[in-house]
Amino acid sequence: MVAAPVKQKYDIKDINLAPLGHQRIEWAGREMPVLKQIRERFAQEKPFAGLRLVACCHVTTETAHLAIALKAGGADAVLIASNPLSTQDDVAACLVANYDIPVFAIKGEDNDTYHRHVQTALDHRPNIIIDDGSDVVATLVKERQHQIADLIGTTEETTTGIVRLQAMFKDGVLSFPAMNVNDADTKHFFDNRYGTGQSTLDGIIRATNILLAGKTIVVAGYGWCGKGVAMRAQGLGANVIVTEINPVPAIEAAMDGFRVMPMAEAAKEGDIFITVTGNKHVIRAEHFASMKDGAIVCNSGHFDIEIDLKSLASQATEVKDVRNFTQQYTLPSGKSVIVIGEGRLVNLAAAEGHPSAVMDMSFANQALACEYLVKNKGQLQPGLHSIPREVDQEIARLKLQAMSIQIDSLTPEQVEYINSWTSGT
Ligand code: ADE
Repeated sequence: MVAAPVKQKYDIKDINLAPLGHQRIEWAGREMPVLKQIRERFAQEKPFAGLRLVACCHVTTETAHLAIALKAGGADAVLIASNPLSTQDDVAACLVANYDIPVFAIKGEDNDTYHRHVQTALDHRPNIIIDDGSDVVATLVKERQHQIADLIGTTEETTTGIVRLQAMFKDGVLSFPAMNVNDADTKHFFDNRYGTGQSTLDGIIRATNILLAGKTIVVAGYGWCGKGVAMRAQGLGANVIVTEINPVPAIEAAMDGFRVMPMAEAAKEGDIFITVTGNKHVIRAEHFASMKDGAIVCNSGHFDIEIDLKSLASQATEVKDVRNFTQQYTLPSGKSVIVIGEGRLVNLAAAEGHPSAVMDMSFANQALACEYLVKNKGQLQPGLHSIPREVDQEIARLKLQAMSIQIDSLTPEQVEYINSWTSGT
């Protein structure tokens, strides 16, 4: 296929940050042995030779390793940010300066710049899109139908993006294959749960430097992310309340030992509120009104819609910065509400996102999902596809190996037993 080079070479904060980015990328690599093995194989086999690829991800040290692996595999790759506040500017600089990967991402970019970068990425005329939240794919479908012929397929990282793709499929506009990376066991069990669990609290602690022990933490949503956040908050000595709209996870939360109640009740009790639902306005005007003075509110779901910040801002008599990424809104009652990271992903806005060890598996899935799309070009139906079970299992095996953990294997007698139905009581 003929390359259609992007017009501007890159759009980053400061190319001089490259040495710091290089040092931090190297550090992250210590915890990413699975992706390293994949990169080494890609360098030999060049599965993406001649293909244009767009990755719309949080531009972090871990994403750097994914981009480097794809480039090693022959991809003509362009990287853009999947969130205006999540870019690590030193990483963006290093990818441009040391790896010749065009990056369009600046921490704190405004929404117009964010959308301009999405357009720049699509100007690259991608054959493969790696998306995180589905903004590139949705823009392609809405505005660039004529480019769909170029596309082999897409991969999607996160639950929110999968929900959008499902809606596109229902509306009959998803006319190409999309790999559901989030669905892989080696992704959501670890990234969504342990990754979000640790990095969300990391973001809150870095932003506020408060003690979590003894605080009442309200976790809105008890999916994999909510489970991780609640578990880790409890581990640090917080009293955890869970809010849910779905009866089954609500029972799970109760049986995991958490108090479960509606947000209207939880609002009065919480010291810290963390939204991880994927839905909008989970915390809104009536909740702010009943919160304690100085309550801290943040979001770890993909989009900045979970907290109704517009209503908070419209009520506030004063808004001021109190620490990095932390603002205090004073209400007419005299009480204040503290918001971290403008309601955007707190783990990436105020910390460094999920630790490398979990992103190792998430991005191994991404890399192998791209390879699967290429190997099966023209064979896959439009719509969502799971990561093949063998791929998921292989990633788990490689991770265990890297962790020096050995496990048992079935004896021939056990194999026979689980494959037969004849013996019972
Ligand atoms: N999503 C959450 N954490 C991340 C990280 N460290 N890198 C890329 N994407 C992420």
